[in-house]
Amino acid sequence: RHTIFLFVLCFTGVLSVSTSTGYGPKQLRAFNGSCLHIPCHFKGKSRNVVAKWFKNQTTTDNLIFNSHNETEIKVPVKLVGDLTQENCSTVFYNLTTKDSDTYYLTLENEKKAFNITIKESPKRPVITILGEQHENSLVTLTCCHHTPCPQAPPTLMWDVSQAPPTLTWALPPGPSQLIANSNGSFTTIIQLHNLILTHLHHRQPIKCLAQYPVTGGIKTSKIKLQLNVTCKLYAPKNTQASVSLSGGLWSSQTVSLTCSSTAHPPVQNFSWFKVSTQGAIHVHDGHLYSFNITSSGHFYCVEYNRLGNQSSSVIGKLDTMFTFNKPLLLINATCPIVFMSILFYFHVFFFSFAILTLVSLYTCHPIICFFS
Ligand SMILES: *[C@@H]1O[C@H](CO)[C@@H](O)[C@H](O)[C@H]1NC(C)=O
Ligand SMILES: *[C@@H]1O[C@H](CO)[C@@H](O)[C@H](O)[C@H]1NC(C)=O
Ligand SMILES: *[C@@H]1O[C@H](CO)[C@@H](O)[C@H](O)[C@H]1NC(C)=O
Ligand SMILES: *[C@@H]1O[C@H](CO)[C@@H](O)[C@H](O)[C@H]1NC(C)=O
Ligand SMILES: *[C@@H]1O[C@H](CO)[C@@H](O)[C@H](O)[C@H]1NC(C)=O
Ligand SMILES: *[C@@H]1O[C@H](CO)[C@@H](O)[C@H](O)[C@H]1NC(C)=O
Ligand SMILES: *[C@@H]1O[C@H](CO)[C@@H](O)[C@H](O)[C@H]1NC(C)=O
Ligand SMILES: *[C@@H]1O[C@H](CO)[C@@H](O)[C@H](O)[C@H]1NC(C)=O
Ligand SMILES: *[C@@H]1O[C@H](CO)[C@@H](O)[C@H](O)[C@H]1NC(C)=O
Ligand SMILES: *[C@@H]1O[C@H](CO)[C@@H](O)[C@H](O)[C@H]1NC(C)=O
Ligand SMILES: *[C@@H]1O[C@H](CO)[C@@H](O)[C@H](O)[C@H]1NC(C)=O
Repeated sequence: RHTIFLFVLCFTGVLSVSTSTGYGPKQLRAFNGSCLHIPCHFKGKSRNVVAKWFKNQTTTDNLIFNSHNETEIKVPVKLVGDLTQENCSTVFYNLTTKDSDTYYLTLENEKKAFNITIKESPKRPVITILGEQHENSLVTLTCCHHTPCPQAPPTLMWDVSQAPPTLTWALPPGPSQLIANSNGSFTTIIQLHNLILTHLHHRQPIKCLAQYPVTGGIKTSKIKLQLNVTCKLYAPKNTQASVSLSGGLWSSQTVSLTCSSTAHPPVQNFSWFKVSTQGAIHVHDGHLYSFNITSSGHFYCVEYNRLGNQSSSVIGKLDTMFTFNKPLLLINATCPIVFMSILFYFHVFFFSFAILTLVSLYTCHPIICFFS
């Protein structure tokens, strides 16, 4: 199912350059040194129908193939279809640019015309991308090549050698596949499934090479594509406010609150609010909010970018707990070790009871006690 869908995608590109007119001779294209498979069928002829190919005109001088007389075969042509099955499919081998012409196939009284153009080189392969070119998005790349002659199909392969070697591409191990189209033509495809795009893939080149066996060697046709990986834009998320004391634990005079989040595009504005009984009071703009350690309260920050905003949860209880020469600030945080060192600092035993009570209250959510 997957393959067929992609395969149809492949063809939209090929069809747009097709020169088929619907009238006159059927248009076919091959390239120098290769062969051409001509799909062909007929109806309602006698069982021993004779098929004859002519080049340019249907005169005896121009006869190049006779299905009933081998001595009249002038050029490398092979009838691959079974005439008794009403199949007149033919392959022309070893074509050169000079062979471009209109060819005629006669079957009793019927004449079919084929305009065959032999180009110097094969067409470029076509790469299609299924999936959005976003960071973290899953894409499937398909490279396909119209194959004029399934008797000598190309080998398709991905080439990422121009991109940094550290980049992951999930290149397929298998060979390219030859697929028969409903109208009798053929296509060779190779896929790169489920590539997870990162920003590292942005603007990195990936090439698809089609290598054709031709008379006397290999002919390569290639296409290069650059992935344009856009970043997914989102409003701030994981917004967090954190606390630190500037200037060391014991001598500090200021508390610093820092607001952080992930956002794309980056956060443009930060606002700090203090929770009060009258509601939130806007106290500061900027990602860092510092204030005198003697202040206290509940705070939270809000981060904005053009896509939205997000508030942090209210940060700890920033309260003056004790007053013993200097205030003790109690702040919700994540470092119980600091708490232990404060216990040490509190060698005055009449505080021990209070501190141990705090330990039991906050064991599920470690706290730091700052003494100033
Ligand atoms: C066969 O169909 C494909 C599209 O599926 C088209 O690109 C190709 O030109 C067709 N070939 C002929 C001989 O009509
Ligand atoms: C076509 O291929 C033949 C070999 O099959 C080669 O001698 C000739 O130079 C080629 N012509 C062009 C125009 O590439
Ligand atoms: C094809 O036949 C026409 C006459 O029908 C003639 O004028 C022309 O030169 C021929 N072309 C070739 C390549 O032989
Ligand atoms: C085959 O073609 C040759 C040359 O045109 C002719 O001499 C011969 O009689 C033909 N043979 C048959 C069986 O028709
Ligand atoms: C095509 O040409 C090559 C080299 O000239 C030759 O070996 C081969 O037999 C030819 N193929 C056919 C079908 O005549
Ligand atoms: C005609 O014969 C060719 C070559 O054997 C084959 O690929 C094709 O499928 C046949 N076409 C039909 C309609 O049977
Ligand atoms: C055959 O195709 C060529 C190029 O595609 C074109 O110039 C020419 O007129 C066509 N001949 C016929 C008889 O359709
Ligand atoms: C990526 O962008 C470049 C330059 O704008 C463009 O040439 C190329 O086709 C784009 N690639 C894709 C896969 O859209
Ligand atoms: C963000 O800051 C800019 C300038 O600094 C200002 O124009 C804009 O209104 C602010 N946006 C919000 C949501 O506060
Ligand atoms: C903090 O406040 C106290 C008392 O109000 C004052 O003595 C001290 O200088 C202030 N410290 C700073 C860093 O502003
Ligand atoms: C913040 O986002 C909420 C929705 O999440 C919106 O209602 C509110 O207006 C936004 N505030 C600002 C200042 O943009």
